[in-house]
Amino acid sequence: SCTGDVECVCEGFSCNGDQHCFGLQCFSSLSVENGMALQHKGCIVGSEEVAVRCKNSQTVDSLVHCCQETLCNMNVTVEMPMVEGPNYSVTTLTIVIVAPVIVLILSGVAIMIFRCIHHHQMEHLTAHDAEYGTIDGLIASNVGESTLADLLDHSCTSGSGSGLPFLVQRTVARQITLSECVGKGRYGEVWRGQWQGESVAVKIFSSRDEKSWFRETEIYNTVLLRHENILGFIASDMTSRNSSTQLWLITHFHEMGSLYDYLQLSMLDASACLRMALSIASGLAHLHVEIFGTQGKPAIAHRDLKSKNILVKKNGQCCIADLGLAVMHFQDTNELDVGNNPKVGTKRYMAPEVLDDSIQTDCFESYKRVDIWAFGLVLWEIARRTISNGIVEDYKPPFHDVVSSDPSFEDMKKVICIDQQRPNILNRWFSDPTLTLIVKLMKECWYQNPSARLTALRIKKTLTKMDHSLDKIKEDI
Ligand code: ADE
Repeated sequence: SCTGDVECVCEGFSCNGDQHCFGLQCFSSLSVENGMALQHKGCIVGSEEVAVRCKNSQTVDSLVHCCQETLCNMNVTVEMPMVEGPNYSVTTLTIVIVAPVIVLILSGVAIMIFRCIHHHQMEHLTAHDAEYGTIDGLIASNVGESTLADLLDHSCTSGSGSGLPFLVQRTVARQITLSECVGKGRYGEVWRGQWQGESVAVKIFSSRDEKSWFRETEIYNTVLLRHENILGFIASDMTSRNSSTQLWLITHFHEMGSLYDYLQLSMLDASACLRMALSIASGLAHLHVEIFGTQGKPAIAHRDLKSKNILVKKNGQCCIADLGLAVMHFQDTNELDVGNNPKVGTKRYMAPEVLDDSIQTDCFESYKRVDIWAFGLVLWEIARRTISNGIVEDYKPPFHDVVSSDPSFEDMKKVICIDQQRPNILNRWFSDPTLTLIVKLMKECWYQNPSARLTALRIKKTLTKMDHSLDKIKEDI
């Protein structure tokens, strides 16, 4: 050893069997050879070697720890440094990144295949139905050879609701050819359609009004609603077309259209006016009443009564349409079924308690009283188009003189709740006994206090009495 040299521990191939050596510095190193980690200890003799091996020890492949005291490398073991941050193995990388990507791609492919199959099935169903007149051989002969009246008469004894069995509804729906569009609005469209030579009405709901389709379908299919003054239900159908859902409601077709359309063009005499008013009151009274027993029905409130939702029949009577917002009440359980339609009634026809939000929404009577308010407005629309003293007015919607064509909720609230305005009563109406009675009735539909208003049954009875007395006068003449 030389002066100034330190004694170090020696372990490894360079020691020649000696356990100690002398050098400028001691070292303890770790190197990887053939995948194996090898520990060496020994002496660094030259100053150049110190510079290369000790100073660069942090950056070279074999890690070296140097020290300068006697036997200072005895208890020093160099270890592999822990790499900071991610040091993922291939397996980990596969699991974390590649696997989810594969799963995503596979699910995408699966969804596409599923949609293709579903679409193909729907198309196939429609094409097949059109060709064979059914989706089920069992019903083919029945549906194919029947008239709508036969089918509907038969279904009254078999199902619980007003319509045909569901498979037959679907079959009928898919055999319809659409002929002409007779109405269009925010709700969707109404078409005249043909089924086995008979005209039917097809209401195609806009997708934003799907809740109304569900509600109307639910009511017609669960409630036996056959009445001459309620629009006759035939079928409901949901189909997938171009990856969107089509919602159809198929009903009787009334070629004279809605009361609103009819009043634009036609004038009435007192007897026609009475006939219409009585028929609407009868339809409303039937909706409002609960009938008990197996052939019974719950009480129903319409919530969107207006001249556009009333259809004119060829016999001069009317029928009430559009049950998309209706509520049902079952007295035995005191259950109120308001559905889940976010839609509200037409603003122009809203009762004061709806506009000022004082309506008791948990009480079924409230909804019937809202219908009565709107019924009064429909009476007023009819009365304007009824000739008396040789005079008649143009058709106008209620409150045409105080609000714009598309009034806001606030506009209506000001007119109805704050100013408490009511439609104008015309003097000429008092020259006719029928119109005089109709004026009395409409006024009693418009009390600010909902509980003071007439009931549909009371209105129906009063108009029936008038009808009978007019008949009697005719007989006497
Ligand atoms: N407009 C709306 N519904 C109708 C129907 N059932 N018949 C004729 N026109 C209509």
